[in-house]
Amino acid sequence: MAIPTIEWEGGKEGRMKIIDQTLLPQEFKFIYCDDVQTVWQAIKELKVRGAPAIGIAAAMGTYVGVKGLNTNNFEEFWKKLKEVTDYLRTSRPTAVNLFWALQRMEYAAQAYSHEPVETIKEMLFEEATEILEEDKDSSRAIGRFGAELIPKGSTVMTYCNAGGLATGGYGTALAVIYAAQEAGKDIKVYACETRPLLQGARLTSWELLHHGLDVTLICDNMVAHVMAEGRVDLVVVGADRIAVNGDAANKIGSYGLSIVAKEHGVPFYVAAPLSTFDLKIPSGSHIPIEERSPHEVTTFGGQRIAPEGVKVYNPAFDVIPARLITAIITEKGVIKKPNPNRVRKLVKEESYTVDRKQ
Ligand code: MRU
Repeated sequence: MAIPTIEWEGGKEGRMKIIDQTLLPQEFKFIYCDDVQTVWQAIKELKVRGAPAIGIAAAMGTYVGVKGLNTNNFEEFWKKLKEVTDYLRTSRPTAVNLFWALQRMEYAAQAYSHEPVETIKEMLFEEATEILEEDKDSSRAIGRFGAELIPKGSTVMTYCNAGGLATGGYGTALAVIYAAQEAGKDIKVYACETRPLLQGARLTSWELLHHGLDVTLICDNMVAHVMAEGRVDLVVVGADRIAVNGDAANKIGSYGLSIVAKEHGVPFYVAAPLSTFDLKIPSGSHIPIEERSPHEVTTFGGQRIAPEGVKVYNPAFDVIPARLITAIITEKGVIKKPNPNRVRKLVKEESYTVDRKQ
């Protein structure tokens, strides 16, 4: 069963519902997002997180922000819709899925600009629902393509959380693991804890246990030792934004993990839907890297662990260079040894060329 990370409850007059991921694994609780400020905050504070889920939340958040508008005038409606989408664009900078989804919502409104506003609202509801449904299908397809790359009896290492909690479906990296397991491949997993916000410890290990997988949790600084011991057959992680040359931004620590994998001859896979590709940027150095509050580093489990006054640097993502990536697994196929030609070919053929301006 897929985890109901983000859902719309009760038709177009209904409500947006998410799992509050900051409470996991201690508490499994849904929260409702009845206004756009609550959606913005949920994204900012990682109540809903992971690139595809952020995109879905932004699309639904757009509908939340305009569904109550009382006007018959398209210009007025469009002005308000732009205020909502521009506001949501400021929630988090790195995952391109956010900008992609918001642009899809804007395009949907423009495409029906000649229709009554009530019809445009219905189309926006349908667009947001479709983004969620497409993501469910994508995660299944990523799983199918990825599982073919996983030998029977493999031990897989993963980082952060690229599972159902990060998408509308089964995940990206974890979808590969689930599909391989379903194919009877007898998979074992090492989940890295992922400091500072512990998505690996709190979310990935919870999610994998929930699905009955054999998972072992390690601290991030154990990665090199565990690989040197020959315990890992391959690594699979998700991504937040992939540049034309195949450089992929993912949770901070992913770059280091890719270097360690290279040193030990361990294949390193990135799994992501086409909505995570940004064909407007040639390489990873153009990816905006989110910097988060020092508080995330100076505290642990609510306790202060560093002296008052210490300087902190807290980048939330880093970039895995394409040369360290064995293949990128998408819902439309696998890009082996990614380079600009191979990336462009697969992504362009699928017409994922919407303008992803921020
Ligand atoms: O800060 P987060 O928790 O949103 O970071 C999430 C990740 O880095 C994931 O690996 C990535 O979004 C891929 S999710 C399928």
